[in-house]
Amino acid sequence: MKSELLQHAITQSLAVRNRSYSPYSQFKVGAALITKSGNIFVGTNVENGSYGATVCAERIALFSAVSAGEREFETLIVTADMDGKAVYPCGLCLQVFSEFAPQIPVVLVNASTGKIEKETTLDTLFPHQFSLNS
Ligand code: THU
Repeated sequence: MKSELLQHAITQSLAVRNRSYSPYSQFKVGAALITKSGNIFVGTNVENGSYGATVCAERIALFSAVSAGEREFETLIVTADMDGKAVYPCGLCLQVFSEFAPQIPVVLVNASTGKIEKETTLDTLFPHQFSLNS
């Protein structure tokens, strides 16, 4: 993948994180999902007073992409305040991403510096997803 596209997606994930609706946790997350076709879809976490209805940034980015007709994904970027340690996608997001992109590279970006904190893959983080077909 072109490094300009990755840098552009990182910039977008930082920008969307500023639109986080997180009055309960005060924890802002931004996500940018690069598709195989070269498009970028973003998401931020949207919390709810019921707590349980909260949706993570990553799933919002994925659902937005799928809603636009995208089915093939290149890279997921997650941006959060990583005070010395990487913030990984939650288990629910890993399961949801495993449906569409079980081996997608996952890039964790430190929101304070804008720099990449860690690069990994979905199957490293989540090797045994639930599947109706397994
Ligand atoms: N959150 C995300 O958006 N993505 C993650 O991978 C982990 C958690 C959000 C959900 C909630 O709004 C806040 O972070 C604290 O859990």
